[in-house]
Amino acid sequence: AGGRPLQGRHVLVTSGPTHEPIDPVRYIANRSSGAQGTAIAAALRDLGANVTFITGPATMPPPAGVTVIAVETAAQMMTAVTAALPADAAVMAAAVADWHVANAGAQKMKKDGSGRAPALDFAENPDILATVSRAADRPRLVVGFAAETENVIDHASAKRLRKGCDWILANDVSPATGIMGGSENAVTLITADGAEDWPRMGKAEVARRLAARIAEALT
Ligand code: C5P
Repeated sequence: AGGRPLQGRHVLVTSGPTHEPIDPVRYIANRSSGAQGTAIAAALRDLGANVTFITGPATMPPPAGVTVIAVETAAQMMTAVTAALPADAAVMAAAVADWHVANAGAQKMKKDGSGRAPALDFAENPDILATVSRAADRPRLVVGFAAETENVIDHASAKRLRKGCDWILANDVSPATGIMGGSENAVTLITADGAEDWPRMGKAEVARRLAARIAEALT
């Protein structure tokens, strides 16, 4: 298929952070910019894929030429992902919040003059990657990410098995690496066959290499 090996293939990409409401005007978030997920969606599009890009409130604009589904919470992302299946492949690059606020207020919380602060109760969010990996209409190839700060390969290999995905792109996000929020990434691709270290490169180049591998795997 020349330069468009993913022509006619449907690929799902999740990206960005999620926001978990505390009340109608406040939320809990994380520092994901959506840069790596956005680059992956663009690289898959460039290989001809039909990309559904399911994104939390990222600071980066979504790429052109993909179907964008904007969500806020992990629960909404899960619903959107499930609704977007079937797909030939799924790449879960979103930084999904592990918990949501179970006692979020229906109205803006107010100071009551007592000097006591409110207590938030947290409940676990669904694991989208694990759910998709075990879905009846599971994509042929499911790729997850693992941001680790120690024992990167051991932790990521265990995560691959626990979540039931095919590949994990693992990276070391220790502050010294400068990767979190930076423009470069240094990843290890973990598959059933083992671990493959990629040299440190720009996030766009990581995305192009991953998209090429996905195209190979789907051929
Ligand atoms: O368990 P951990 O959050 O480190 O796993 C990271 C991988 O799992 C990423 O691919 C992320 O997109 C995915 N994930 C998910 N749903 C969650 C938590 C993580 O899809 N609730």
